[in-house]
Amino acid sequence: MKAKLVVLSGAGISAESGIRTFRDSDGLWENYRVEDVASIDGWYRDPEMMTRFYNERRAQLEHCQPNAAHVILADLEVFFNVVIITQNVDNLHERAGSKQVIHLHGELTKACSEHGKKQVHDIGYRAMKYGERGADGALLRPFIVWFGEDVPMLAVAIEEMQTADHVLIIGTSLNVYPAASLYHYAPKHAQLWMIDPNDTQPVQRPITHIRAKATEGMKQWKNLVLPDNL
Ligand code: OAD
Repeated sequence: MKAKLVVLSGAGISAESGIRTFRDSDGLWENYRVEDVASIDGWYRDPEMMTRFYNERRAQLEHCQPNAAHVILADLEVFFNVVIITQNVDNLHERAGSKQVIHLHGELTKACSEHGKKQVHDIGYRAMKYGERGADGALLRPFIVWFGEDVPMLAVAIEEMQTADHVLIIGTSLNVYPAASLYHYAPKHAQLWMIDPNDTQPVQRPITHIRAKATEGMKQWKNLVLPDNL
């Protein structure tokens, strides 16, 4: 049986694909304060601006490509049972070929009703028009888990973490909960790894930190973990 590799990815893995991280530029995300464009309060304050903001992110995503880090993770499925738990709302893991991807914070290419996330619509890369309504008659909104909202995929993510042999934390500052605490659910025998060029919030378990950008770090990780000839 293949060993299980559970990956917790964050914005840093997509940085080399041209998508900016959240906290590397003074708390500004594409010139907006994260709190303004990533909270449910922001939506109620100015849904039109939020619709425009996520339209821009979606349009940008269409022209970004997965980088070598996404591709190595997809290729690792030959050797490991790989489950990716991502905080990212982009689809670069899927486009690189990863089969098991759990999106904790939603997905840019989807929309849902303002009244709940039960009905989710694929919208691809198209711009949403403010005022569009779903089947329940409520306003459609981006399918994003904003600050102040539940994280519906949390239970599934915890379950996957509980059976990990390796946990690889890549490109996340570990500032946002509950994602940042998921590694606590990994069994004692699991080996913990981190790939990040910078310091993150401290991890309360022994961990091997590869201080490199995602693409270089994934190459190093693969060389460390897989036997020479693979
Ligand atoms: P952050 O912006 O907080 O952290 C990005 C991490 O990536 C930092 O630790 C950087 O050092 C690292 N980094 C930068 N460039 C990198 C590279 N080329 N390769 C590898 N690592 C690199 O982003 P997240 O931790 O993902 O939530 O943020 C978590 C959540 O906060 C997001 O999902 C988002 C945000 O608010 C929502 O929108 C709900």
